[in-house]
Amino acid sequence: MKMTDIPFIMVDDNPCAVPLYRQIYEAVCRSILSGEFNRGMQLPATRQLAKELGVSRMTVVNAYDQLLAEGYIEGRTGAGTFVASTLPDAMLRVEEVHSSHRQEPDQPRNHTLSRRGKWLASTSVKTLRVQADSDNYAFQNGMPAVDEFPFRVWSQIASRRLRNPPRELLGYGDPAGYLPLRAGLAAHLKSARAVRCDASQVIIVAGSQQALDLTARVLLDPDDVAWVEDPCYPGAHNTLLSAGAQVISVSVDKEGFDLADALKRSRNARLVYVTPSHQFPLGVTMSLSRRLALLEWAKRSGAFVIEDDYNSEYRYAGRPLASLQGLDKDGRVIYVGTFSKTIFPSLRLGCHVVPKDLTDAFIAARALVDRHSPLLDQAILADFINEGHFARHIRRMRSLYAERQQVLVEAAQRDLKGLLEVAPAEAGMHLVGWLPKKTSDKAASEKAARYGVEAAPLSAYSTNPLPRGGLVLGYTAVNAKQIRDGVRRLAQALS
Ligand SMILES: Cc1ncc(COP(=O)(O)O)c(C=O)c1O
Repeated sequence: MKMTDIPFIMVDDNPCAVPLYRQIYEAVCRSILSGEFNRGMQLPATRQLAKELGVSRMTVVNAYDQLLAEGYIEGRTGAGTFVASTLPDAMLRVEEVHSSHRQEPDQPRNHTLSRRGKWLASTSVKTLRVQADSDNYAFQNGMPAVDEFPFRVWSQIASRRLRNPPRELLGYGDPAGYLPLRAGLAAHLKSARAVRCDASQVIIVAGSQQALDLTARVLLDPDDVAWVEDPCYPGAHNTLLSAGAQVISVSVDKEGFDLADALKRSRNARLVYVTPSHQFPLGVTMSLSRRLALLEWAKRSGAFVIEDDYNSEYRYAGRPLASLQGLDKDGRVIYVGTFSKTIFPSLRLGCHVVPKDLTDAFIAARALVDRHSPLLDQAILADFINEGHFARHIRRMRSLYAERQQVLVEAAQRDLKGLLEVAPAEAGMHLVGWLPKKTSDKAASEKAARYGVEAAPLSAYSTNPLPRGGLVLGYTAVNAKQIRDGVRRLAQALS
């Protein structure tokens, strides 16, 4: 290595190194971009620099030519070579210019991350990351039949909206969401789920995930206790953990979230996360007495309950129970709904229904996170709902999914006898297949993957050991043929 009188220029004459002219070029670029070389500063003459560096003059000439061509420096006849007085475009591409010299670590250095950042970088959050989709969707969980979605209607609405969009859809919108969508949803939730609300309480969010995040921001302080179901939806469990809450996993039995077990584990909690209409992933419906007891406890202790109503539209038998929010007389329930199961997940739209006295705080939190969801998408969805297409689509999907569930149950009861116990369910988009006692569901899931079948192990969602292992089998995104084929492959994997 040699260094010139002007600092910053060093060359490495090892034959394996970057060519010498390129090293000089990059060193000068770096010094200009970092401000060490001011605009208009004179550079040494090529002969002088070559001498100082112990390289041929041609090497320096080549470097200067490149710098001249890219506008970093300029020659003034008779006066010499100077750092350019105007910025070249390449300055805007600092990353590219120095790519050969970058030595950034792949993993964040320990000191760079906050406590929350370290936690986020840990593996558990990756459960929400989706692997690249293969062509085979058996038995991907939580995915609707997107090939059955009425895209013709959706695109007609979209082109009508896009042809001549009013200014109100092109500027910044209300962080609470597009009012006609909020009003349409308030009406829909009232009639379909007995949710008690008006449009002012409905906040449009980027899917349930954002609703969970906003709830944690607005209602939880670090170390507050939050109760979650065990097993639990990782999107909720992880969000509460990342907010610094003390998350306590509470048993779920045939009646759903067990308040008595919760109270044994911790005297109180600030927030509770439940999926009352269809517990994720076990599929249990929370009984009315448990619902009333939970609301009574929340009222007494001043706590809040998140009701994640992620797929309540899909009930095939039995009378749907009204939402927990509809039973709440004390403004204790934060209702969360999503369009990921009824439209398609990439839309990233959902809704939050919050108690009246909390709306301002939730709307302010939303505004700070990302202002609001895309207005044009909200307007298209509003028309889709308000013109009756949404209700029609749900009716169609409900009967399609009921058929698909039946195909899965029949195929499983025929081909998976003794390997996996699969029983019909009254609601939902997946079934839990129970493995023989003492069989590891993780190992079974890995074997299934080797046969091209996705079947998430139940234990991946649980904190405390489960009495029996199981596999989560989503059936809504696959047609009858794919279901039967998936069951055959699962049987090969498990036998
Ligand atoms: C329990 C539960 N809630 C919510 C969601 C949907 O999340 P999002 O609206 O963020 O897509 C899912 C998706 O699988 C889920 O299983």
